Amino acid sequence: MITARPSVPSQPVRRAGIVGLGMSVPDLVVSNYDLEKRVDTSAEWIRTRTGIQERRIAGDSITTSMLGTQAALNALRDADISSQSVDAIICATTSGDYLWPSTACLIQQGIGANPICAFDVAAACSGFVYALDLGAQYIESGRAETVLVVGADTLTKQLNWEDRSTCVLFGDGAAAVILRSCNPDEGLLATSLGADGGGSELIWIPAGGTKTPISHCVLDKKLNTIQMRGPEVYKFAVKVMGEVAIDALSRCGLTCADVDLLIPHQANIRIIQSAAERMGLCQDRVFINVERYGNTSAASVPIALSEAVKAGRIQHGDIVVLVGFGAGLTWGANVIRWSRDESDCRKTDSTTGGLE
Ligand SMILES: CC(C)(COP(=O)(O)OP(=O)(O)OC[C@H]1O[C@@H](n2cnc3c(N)ncnc32)[C@H](O)[C@@H]1OP(=O)(O)O)[C@@H](O)C(=O)NCCC(=O)NCCS
Repeated sequence: MITARPSVPSQPVRRAGIVGLGMSVPDLVVSNYDLEKRVDTSAEWIRTRTGIQERRIAGDSITTSMLGTQAALNALRDADISSQSVDAIICATTSGDYLWPSTACLIQQGIGANPICAFDVAAACSGFVYALDLGAQYIESGRAETVLVVGADTLTKQLNWEDRSTCVLFGDGAAAVILRSCNPDEGLLATSLGADGGGSELIWIPAGGTKTPISHCVLDKKLNTIQMRGPEVYKFAVKVMGEVAIDALSRCGLTCADVDLLIPHQANIRIIQSAAERMGLCQDRVFINVERYGNTSAASVPIALSEAVKAGRIQHGDIVVLVGFGAGLTWGANVIRWSRDESDCRKTDSTTGGLE
């Protein structure tokens, strides 16, 4: 089922490298102990089954576009470029402020960019991996010099807080990268993407779209909230994460032995550990921050990437693999040879930044 664009052998004239990163999470921290007062669960159950210890929650006054805009501004500052230089904005999200317009349009206004191309990508938790591939194609084709790619979600607004099997898993946040052309042997080397709509009901929001619009019945049954068959999603995730990462690596002539750091979707520590085991990667070659943020959907991979860079875990020339899976079902992986010299970058706090 895995489909992908051609990778290294087609030798694009230009390659896309990440020149700036930024993230933004709400200030409100909700721990497992807070949740056990609210739901029929225990802090210990959540920690041992998922690895999550706390998550950030956007209150009523914080929206997906606000987090995305702040992350984008932080990434622009990190890259030391003006919002006026951005040629295209792609936002991965499935929890936009509105059904439409897109969150990317709101971010365009929020950062004060020119009236450029801006659109959303809906691939759930795989969204950033999909969007990064698209953004890179704008650079590789010469259609754009500077592309802003954002992953932003506030899935806690789509939860049924009485459903303990889902409400303990998610958190809110956003992160962004700036893409520009880089040396031809660096940057995004290959991508592998896939989807299987046959699994669309394994994790979904059944109502609120055009098929089943909001009604009193929908609200009574909470069909406008996330429904999930957890163990089936778990099995899918463990299988597909390793497979898609290995496929992406093979598309640029690499193997798991070449990987310096794996940045996996942060849904469950047990899923991450199983995938790493299948890839033969030891713990110090895998970045994990699920304990502090839970599953932030499309923001999960770029938040982890931002934190990995800030923690000094990625150096110029390193092979970094981003891998995600999510509703759809969707999955994907990007292989990047890191093109930025981190020692040259300003050591500011621009990769973080919270919103109250
Ligand atoms: C959801 C998940 C953590 C559940 O872990 P699990 O080990 O598979 O647990 P199970 O679903 O088998 O449930 C075991 C028991 O715990 C219970 N349980 C579920 N959530 C609970 C919670 N928050 N607190 C306490 N008990 C809970 C279940 O009701 C079940 O009880 P039962 O045996 O009496 O029926 C796990 O399946 C998972 O992570 N799945 C993938 C989810 C995911 O990644 N989603 C996002 C995709 S992008």
